[in-house]
Amino acid sequence: MLSENTIKVIKSTVPVLEVHGEAITRHFYKTMFTAHPELLNIFNHANQKQGRQQAALANMVYTAALHIDNLASILPAVRQVAHKHRSLGIVPEQYAIVGTYLLQAIKDVLGDAATDEIITAWGEAYQVIADAFIGIEQDMYATAEQQTGGWEGFRSFKVAKRVQESDIITSFYLYPEDGLPISSHEPGQYISIKIHPEGHPFTQIRQYSLSDAPDKPYYRISVKREQGSMDRPDGVISTYLHEHITEGSVVELSAPAGDFTLHAEDPRPIVLLSGGVGITPMISMLNTLAQKSDKRPITFIHANVDSANHAFREHVNLLADNNDNVRAYYCYTQPSSSDRDISCYHKEGYMDADWLRQIVDNLDATFYMCGSVPFMQSVYAALDEIGVSPDQIHYEFFGPKAQLIPS
Ligand code: HEM
Repeated sequence: MLSENTIKVIKSTVPVLEVHGEAITRHFYKTMFTAHPELLNIFNHANQKQGRQQAALANMVYTAALHIDNLASILPAVRQVAHKHRSLGIVPEQYAIVGTYLLQAIKDVLGDAATDEIITAWGEAYQVIADAFIGIEQDMYATAEQQTGGWEGFRSFKVAKRVQESDIITSFYLYPEDGLPISSHEPGQYISIKIHPEGHPFTQIRQYSLSDAPDKPYYRISVKREQGSMDRPDGVISTYLHEHITEGSVVELSAPAGDFTLHAEDPRPIVLLSGGVGITPMISMLNTLAQKSDKRPITFIHANVDSANHAFREHVNLLADNNDNVRAYYCYTQPSSSDRDISCYHKEGYMDADWLRQIVDNLDATFYMCGSVPFMQSVYAALDEIGVSPDQIHYEFFGPKAQLIPS
């Protein structure tokens, strides 16, 4: 239990730390990785380079600190991160390491401004925040292990089949090497895959949404080959999966995780909105609904560059043809001339408010969306414009969480 004074000190220093937030977390990661290089086996190096992870961790610590006297009010955010930590295999002992280097970084960056009182208060607050995460994660580990077919940590899976879904997306069908059952998953959840690329000094872990309905003897992931750009290298793991993981290869997976899931009990019509490879959890949701012969109106809306990049098009068209309640709409930003004749192709350009107003005939629906940060920000704004309220929208960003409304 924190004292009144500690809470006061924490709340009054949050704004100061926010100003130095990224400097502190950058310094923290640098010193922590120097002392504990083994942690480079679990952190995503690409996120580190882009600074997205630094921002995510810093924001979370400050948000938690602001609510230190009522952590329950930010429980959904804590649970979302805890899902990711559970999927990565984070253990309680690692919280002590993070705490030590975070506190040291606050001291180093703030210098004389970091009085003993401030450092002691932040040490106590960090422990409260860490304990909240650890408690939730321990429950999640126990649940994952106790589920039929469940397991703790990483388990070996063999790639039984690879399917090219578009020019840049390939599906991998993963069967457990031990031949035993695998746990069910909620449509929308992801798995972590652990790989040690040849010649690379560390293992790498990435999360990929499961792209098929649950309760099959396999898990399926559908991976986009991440092409680099001027300021960004190719995705190490996605390239490795495409180039080196063939039928017969073995990879390590942790059990399904994540709280971006289909709310089956919610009776409203469903609208599934995706951009690019954000289509993968939507396919899992759509397949699940179709498998259950769910008769609610389902509107599947997908944005892409063109048909060559567009995965699962034939599959979704087939479901729309065979189920009266399923309608599909696609928009491409750079359609080729033949793309204009594609069934369900509707428009050149982005998923904007005018178009959504035309094609979503029931705004009292539940909306699920997934895609890149710009896609999510612009579709969220478009939904707001047409009168959809935030509590009707469920979403997941690819990569570390970002802000839906740009600051
Ligand atoms: C991811 C917060 C402790 C390892 C994250 C994310 C947040 C976060 C906000 C991003 C989630 C997302 O992707 O949306 C925190 C807080 C902690 C804490 C507030 C302490 C109270 C730890 C510890 C470890 C750890 C102890 C292990 C040493 C990771 C890793 C990721 C992650 C590996 C995945 C992101 C990546 O690899 O880029 N954490 N974390 N975290 N966290 Fe933590």
